[in-house]
Amino acid sequence: MSSTHTSDVLVLGGGIIGLVTAWRAAQRGLATAVVDPEPGGGAAQVAAGMLAAVTELHYGEQTLLGLNLASARRYPDFAAELTEATGHDLGYRRCGTLAVALDADDRAHLRELHALQRRSGLESEWLSGRECRKLEPMLAPGVRGGLRVDGDHQIDPRRLAAALVTACERAGVVFHRAWAERLTVERDRAAGCVLADGTALGAPQVVLAAGSLSGRLAGVPDEVLPPVRPVKGQVLRLTVPARYAPFLSRTVRAVVRGGHLYLVPRLSGELVVGATSEELGWDTTVTAGGVYELLRDAHELVPGITELPLTETRAGLRPGSPDNAPLLGPTALPGLLLATGHHRNGVLLTPVTGDVLAHVLTTGQLPDEARPFTPRRFRAAVRTEQPV
Ligand code: GLY
Repeated sequence: MSSTHTSDVLVLGGGIIGLVTAWRAAQRGLATAVVDPEPGGGAAQVAAGMLAAVTELHYGEQTLLGLNLASARRYPDFAAELTEATGHDLGYRRCGTLAVALDADDRAHLRELHALQRRSGLESEWLSGRECRKLEPMLAPGVRGGLRVDGDHQIDPRRLAAALVTACERAGVVFHRAWAERLTVERDRAAGCVLADGTALGAPQVVLAAGSLSGRLAGVPDEVLPPVRPVKGQVLRLTVPARYAPFLSRTVRAVVRGGHLYLVPRLSGELVVGATSEELGWDTTVTAGGVYELLRDAHELVPGITELPLTETRAGLRPGSPDNAPLLGPTALPGLLLATGHHRNGVLLTPVTGDVLAHVLTTGQLPDEARPFTPRRFRAAVRTEQPV
């Protein structure tokens, strides 16, 4: 029996990536539905929301940098359009970022990063410890230097997710508030999904955008199952009382004992401190050790942090991919597309992902900027590893 098409596009997963895909598809006239028990949930409820294409640059990730920068450039218009469409304040703050070093090793690391940034044509200014503290007086006296990056901003991912739900609703996206239990494959093409209660939904195009869960959907043939894995991040939220404001005026980050630490101050007074990076499967326990390490390192960087109320501790799962870059576009199974594997950059890559997926869904072609991120790159790697 064939599935009846209930929409043109079925998006499995209602986190920010699934939502932006659905919103952009609906804007282009496609009848779109999202399947998720809790649209707007997922990793965005934990993420700090740094838009950090420059300060999160890593060796070997120059191709990803191109996509990150393309998305960062779209953010002002994207945020304005989303606010206009929904009336939601997204907490988009063009405040810049300061990456600092606490000791000689950190300083050497930052010097390397600075050289890589310069070679990549990115704007980043080296500051002495004194200059860093002039910008951010709450920094520890021992700070040895830093990088001022005025182009790395922030947004509040919880507000972003809520706005995308509203934007989807207003654009006519239908929500099925349930888990997709299984992908339906008919005559060698994806044709929809079956929900946990047995309801069958049909669509000629299905987008798998379920974050770290994307590799677990039943019914997806092994050769197109996305190689994503959960990478746990523990994150703290503190509150800056009005009498201490402004505690920090921009995002402050550092590498402490090899771990990435960041403090993201919102205008609302919320201060987000993150994040651990742990390969522990599906575990989302907040541990005493995780909280201790984040507070210990944050205290070394900004000693006054211990005065602030600790208001929330939470862990989320980044959808990690083998090369830390997303999987975007058609798979080898006709009708099945991916929008997953965004790892550390899901919030940053939200605007470009929506545009790329809407383009593919309406034209069948990946735009040039997204070609390096085709899911087929992993199949090619597997084939070349086979003995001949
Ligand atoms: N982009 C920050 C993180 O993944 O922790």
